[in-house]
Amino acid sequence: MSDALPGTDRPFEIIPSVLPADFSRLGEACAELEAAGVDRIQFDVMDGRFVPNLTFGPDVVASLRPHVTVPFEAHLMVHEPGWMFEAFVEAGCELIIVHTESVGHLHRALGQVRDAGARAAVALNPSTPVSEIDWVLDLVDMVLVMTVNPGFGGQAYIPTMEPKVAAIRRRVIELGLDVDIEVDGGIGPSTIAGAAAAGANCLVAGSSLFRDPQGMAHAVADLRSRAEATRSNP
Ligand code: DX5
Repeated sequence: MSDALPGTDRPFEIIPSVLPADFSRLGEACAELEAAGVDRIQFDVMDGRFVPNLTFGPDVVASLRPHVTVPFEAHLMVHEPGWMFEAFVEAGCELIIVHTESVGHLHRALGQVRDAGARAAVALNPSTPVSEIDWVLDLVDMVLVMTVNPGFGGQAYIPTMEPKVAAIRRRVIELGLDVDIEVDGGIGPSTIAGAAAAGANCLVAGSSLFRDPQGMAHAVADLRSRAEATRSNP
């Protein structure tokens, strides 16, 4: 577990991925997640090219928007996704996540997200170095550090990503930027403390939320308390 870092007093946000949900009941799943106390909902958009899986597009997200009031974020695991930014904003997403590895011109793509009216986030796959985002940190509201290789839920958390989270947190603090750090992949009761202590304050969980035998509300509260405990006794 990395040492807690100064300045990591940003509120923790528990963010479900709906990837494990029963896609025939997505509206009900979103309502259950909102009732369980999540801070926003993440949609894992996969194109079958950037990742070996295929999920849903903006029309599905738009159909879910009226069911809940919590904010939506779109995690675009899509090759060259620029053409869809506006569609996801119109569908009701207030945050768009772009992978560094998915675009030829990252600086331009992040500006296009903002021009479309959304907050912008940049995502790093496990092998991608922090240096890839050195010159775009001023354009983003959040950095997503993938703690699995993208494409599927239910994978094992990669703990060696914690130093990467800590390095980005230090950089953001040094630059005096107002940037959240999100982690996504394998986040659950046994892994969330390491990610939170390293400096992540937005914690995406799929399997651990949907498969908690005590229900989603228990899972959300348990994850939140485990994250917050890293600040009371670092
Ligand atoms: C991977 C996906 C998953 C999902 C969370 O591409 O982004 O990380 O959101 O899945 P769990 O929490 O089941 O690892």
